[in-house]
Amino acid sequence: MPDSQIRTPVFEFDYIADEGLLADCHARYWELKESAPPVFWTNEHGGHWMCNTAASVTKVLRHPEIFSSRFLSIPPNPDQPKMIPESLDPPEHRPYRQLLRPFFESKAIAPLEARVVEWTDELLTETAAQGECEFVSTVASRLPVAVFMELFGFPMESFDEFRSLVTTFFSVRAAPEERAALAQEIMGHLAQLIQSRMAEPKDDMISKIIVSEIDGRKLEFDELMSIGFLMFLAGLDTVTNAMSFGMRHLAHDEALRQRAIDDPSIIPDMVEELLRRYAFVATPRYIVQDTELEGAQLRAGDCILAPLPLIGWDEKLNEDPKNVSVERQFYRHAAFGSGIHTCLGLHLARMELIVFYRAWFSSIGHFRQIEKGDESCRGGSVMALENLHLEWT
Ligand code: HEM
Repeated sequence: MPDSQIRTPVFEFDYIADEGLLADCHARYWELKESAPPVFWTNEHGGHWMCNTAASVTKVLRHPEIFSSRFLSIPPNPDQPKMIPESLDPPEHRPYRQLLRPFFESKAIAPLEARVVEWTDELLTETAAQGECEFVSTVASRLPVAVFMELFGFPMESFDEFRSLVTTFFSVRAAPEERAALAQEIMGHLAQLIQSRMAEPKDDMISKIIVSEIDGRKLEFDELMSIGFLMFLAGLDTVTNAMSFGMRHLAHDEALRQRAIDDPSIIPDMVEELLRRYAFVATPRYIVQDTELEGAQLRAGDCILAPLPLIGWDEKLNEDPKNVSVERQFYRHAAFGSGIHTCLGLHLARMELIVFYRAWFSSIGHFRQIEKGDESCRGGSVMALENLHLEWT
C-alpha cells in the first residue's frame, strides 16, 4: 500500500466473529471502548474504520453528506437492493420519510396496543404454565412477528408459516444461500400481499401506503416492495433482541424485578434504561468525502462502523453508565439511531416492550436464568442473543 493510503491507527477487530463478541457482545464492546483508540482501522472484512467514542458515532450519524447510507454492509455490496428509506441519502431520503412518518406516530400506533396486549397475554398464559422456557424462541421472536403482520396487513392465518420463515431467516445458523432463498420466499409473500391490496385495498398500512403520493405520484411496485422488506428487516429481529437482552439483565437484577412487580409505572423508564445499557446496533456508513475524525484521516471510498451503544455508555452523557438505574432524570442513548435515519418504528417498539414487561411481571413475576452453555451472541450490525433459558416457580 503506498504511504498516502496507509490507515492508522490500526487495531484488529472482527465485528462479526470476534470471539469475545460472540461470548458477550456488550462486555466486548465495553472492553474495546476502554482499550482501543478513539477511531481505528481494522483489516477485517476488506478493511474498515471503527468509531470507538460517542463523539465519533454522533458525527458519523449527523453528517450524511460525508457518511453515506448507500451501502448498509461492510464490505459494501454493490448488488444490495435499495432499502427505502434506510439506504437513501438526502435529498432523496426526505420525501419517503415524510410519506412514512404518519404511519408510525404515537397516535397511529396507539390503536394497535389493545391487540398487542391480547397476543402478549395469550402467549404468556401458555408460557407461564410451563415453569421454564428458552425465551428467545418461545416468546421474544413471536410477539414482533404478530405485530408486524397485523400492522402491515398480512393475514393472521399464515402466522405459523410466516414465523417459521422469519425465525430461520434471522437465525445465526442459517447459511448465506439458505438466507437468500428465504429472502426470496418472504419477497414472494410480500409481492402477493401488495398485488392483492392494489386490486382491493383494506384498512391496513400497506393499503394506505399504496394510495399515498410522493412528489405528486403514487409509489412504484418496486418501491413498495423495498419499503415492505425494510420494515420486515428493521422491525422483527430488533424487538426480539431488545427483549432478550433486557430479560437477561433482569434475570440477574432481583431489586429491579421487585420494583417492576411492586410498581409497574416504572416499566417505561426501565425499558428506556435497558435500551440504553444494552443497545445492540452497530451501523455501517460509506465515506464519500475525505475527512478527519478524532485525528484519523478517513478517505472517500472507505467504510466505517458506528456502534450505537457507545452513546449511552458515555460518562459525559450518563453518570455511572455501566449501572442500570431507573432513577436517571434522562436516558440519553442512541439505541434507535440519531439524525435523519432515526428509527421510524421507535414508538411501536417501545409500546411492544412496555406491554410485554407489564404482562410478564403481572403473570409470571420473578425468574432465573439457567446456564446451558449455548447462550452465545450473534455479531454483526444487529447483534442478538442466541439462547436464554429461564425458569420460575
Ligand atoms: C427495539 C427495536 C428497534 C431498534 C433498536 C431499532 C433501531 C433502529 C436504528 C438504529 C435505526 C437507524 C439505522 C441507521 O441509522 O442506519 C433504525 C431505522 C429504522 N427502523 Fe428501527 N429499530 C427497532 C424497531 C423498529 C420497528 C418495530 C420498525 C417498524 C416496523 C422499525 C423501522 C425502522 C425504519 C423504517 C428505519 C429506517 C428509517 C430511515 O432510514 O429514515 N424499527 N431502527
